[in-house]
Amino acid sequence: MFNSLAGRVLALTVIFVMVAEILIFVPTVARFRVDYLQERLERAQIASLSILATPNDMIHPELEQELLANAGVTNIVLRRDFMRELVLSAPMQSMISETYDLRDAGPIMLIRDALDLLVTGGDRMIRTIGLPVQGGGTAIEITLPETPMREALIRYGIRILGLSLLISIITASLLLITVKRFIGGPITRVVANMAAFRDDFQNPERVIRPESTLREFRSAEQAMSEMQTHLMAAIKEKDRLAALGEAVAKISHDLRNMLTTATLMADRLEGSADPTVRRTAPKLINSLDRAVNLCESTLSFGKAEEASPEPRIVDLHSLVSDVFDAELLEREDCFVEYTNAVIQKTRIEADPEQLYRILLNLVRNARQAMEAQPDNSKITIGCQASTGETCITITDTGPGLPTKAIEHLFKPFQGGQRRGGSGLGLAISAELVRGHGGRLELHETTTAGTTFRIVLPARDLRVVTDTDISRLQTRMGGDR
Ligand SMILES: Nc1ncnc2c1ncn2[C@@H]1O[C@H](COP(=O)(O)OP(=O)(O)OP(=O)(O)O)[C@@H](O)[C@H]1O
Ligand SMILES: [Mg+2]
Repeated sequence: MFNSLAGRVLALTVIFVMVAEILIFVPTVARFRVDYLQERLERAQIASLSILATPNDMIHPELEQELLANAGVTNIVLRRDFMRELVLSAPMQSMISETYDLRDAGPIMLIRDALDLLVTGGDRMIRTIGLPVQGGGTAIEITLPETPMREALIRYGIRILGLSLLISIITASLLLITVKRFIGGPITRVVANMAAFRDDFQNPERVIRPESTLREFRSAEQAMSEMQTHLMAAIKEKDRLAALGEAVAKISHDLRNMLTTATLMADRLEGSADPTVRRTAPKLINSLDRAVNLCESTLSFGKAEEASPEPRIVDLHSLVSDVFDAELLEREDCFVEYTNAVIQKTRIEADPEQLYRILLNLVRNARQAMEAQPDNSKITIGCQASTGETCITITDTGPGLPTKAIEHLFKPFQGGQRRGGSGLGLAISAELVRGHGGRLELHETTTAGTTFRIVLPARDLRVVTDTDISRLQTRMGGDR
């Protein structure tokens, strides 16, 4: 019960109203006591005045007792003009325990006396002094037993507490109905929708329709509706990608078989009588081998991530030449001026197949970007080593990356802006570089050209130049 919103609202409202009522209760009780005493003082004044009608201020003792009983007191003293004291008195059962002067009692004192009466009061005899009404004297003093006043006070307190409880229950019930209507209802609806969406998230009917008339709930429903729509689109895209992945895997599988056959046939070209054919045969076989490799890694990618690199010492200069040759082979009418700025025999430690794919992707992108501008089309690959890092730069003189490609840089399928492109090249390259513990960066792109950088930790990709090798040889010779 108290774990529910309604239960808590009910309990808290009762508590809060009771607290408020208690704050009101204390001064009310004090007021009640003052009124009670004031009334007794007035009755006593009337009773004492009857003495005035008698000669010598003497009345019959029986009448005296009756007057005192009617006033509810045991003793009355009325002071008039400091001269006359009219006294009515009955024999007292006990001594006077307390005297209260109502003429100069402040609110705090009145509250304290009322609480004292409730808590410690009992069979005491008390004296109260007050002002007579309508200037009927300078002071009036009564003595009375405390018990009847205390009983009346307790009855009054109980009535007030009962009323408070009733008020708090009525308030809480009204609040409960309001909470159920305005908060409980919308929450239940949202929760029910969440459950329905979870069970059937591909059904557009399950997307919540904002209905709440309360602003806060309406914006929550709107946000939820947007989230569900995005989620559905994302799941759909994931499904499409999964289907595409499956298709790619199937194609790669069959393509690999076809390429293997092609490799076998190409092997025979090496024995051709035509020297041009003989010269190009190894490059053809090389390309076919790479294609087979690519198919195989695509197949394994379908199962998991890109295969982890198998680093070896690679001659970067030759690798770059291979990349350029492959490009030239692909486009015989190539207009691009390729520059291999890597120092000859620069050796680095990397997975040659993967590095080849990375460079080929970047070089091909650059060439494709410059296809519309046959003049001044240059692609340069260079390599710089600095402490801790090795940096391979691929620079072109093309038109620069389109804004959309920059916004979705390295994101599969999203960055592709080229007709006929799949938008995978940069994403795959970036992943392969990450596999080497490095990063692929777009260093600069302007209308005058673009530079991509492959930054690799020197730990993974060591640059060993000719100078290093000769220095090493000299040292080894010297050692001997
Ligand atoms: N050097 C570059 N100069 C200008 N634009 C480039 C360059 N490199 C990439 N781009 C832009 O970035 C986009 C993304 O390239 P990415 O290689 O990822 O995909 P793609 O080339 O379109 O398709 P593919 O998967 O066949 O490589 C390209 O479509 C192209 O618009
Ligand atoms: Mg590309």
